[in-house]
Amino acid sequence: MKANLLYEGKAKQVYTVTDDPNLLVLSYKNDATAFNGEKKANFSGKGRYNNLIAAKVFEYLHVHGIPSHFKETLNETEQLVERTTIIPIEVVVRNVAAGSITRRLGITEKTPFQPPLIEFFYKEDALGDPIINDAHALFLTDATEADLAEIKAIAGKVNEQLQAFFKQVNLQLVDFKLEFGRNSTGKIVLADEISPDTCRLWDVETGEKMDKDVFREDLGDLVHVYDQILRRLEAVK
Ligand code: C5P
Repeated sequence: MKANLLYEGKAKQVYTVTDDPNLLVLSYKNDATAFNGEKKANFSGKGRYNNLIAAKVFEYLHVHGIPSHFKETLNETEQLVERTTIIPIEVVVRNVAAGSITRRLGITEKTPFQPPLIEFFYKEDALGDPIINDAHALFLTDATEADLAEIKAIAGKVNEQLQAFFKQVNLQLVDFKLEFGRNSTGKIVLADEISPDTCRLWDVETGEKMDKDVFREDLGDLVHVYDQILRRLEAVK
């Protein structure tokens, strides 16, 4: 089924699929990077957790009417997805201040945002993924104003659904990053991954950070934390 390696990113490999140009295999790696690749490590088992957690997230979004590129889980570390052309904008939704916005704007961690903030970053490693506004996005990508409005509307819906999804397992969805792609019919769908690598999740009771910040901030055992998230999600009926 897996044909050729098409692309290798920091956390995943992307393969073409024999006989179907509209499908790809995403293979989740054990590598973790932070601060635009400056900090690197390898965690045995991480790829499996992100693969299985992302599948649960995409399945939940599908049931709640939000389309994505996800098709099916192939094995412990791989999933089958629809091939899309990625729009090079990283869309970050923030419910609570954490991470880069605390440094960029001097906002104290844990400050709530109501309504949630939506930010665009230009997906370009060589530039360190700089924050951009709509005018920049229109100039830098082939997205139209209508596309940007659609992307923001989908991001808002994903936020509502995922807040409820994670609340079931006692996790607060602090913020997350989405990527969007166009499929073969031109439709804009959610792409890439949604996992504890791309979301901030805090335990509702203890406030414990249960996401990649454990690695970014050297807070403990990343694999143990990802295991806890998968166990909690698996326990949901
Ligand atoms: O670093 P920052 O605070 O802007 O990250 C906001 C959210 O987006 C976090 O959940 C982080 O994990 C995610 N993110 C990501 N990939 C990036 C940048 C941020 O998944 N390249």
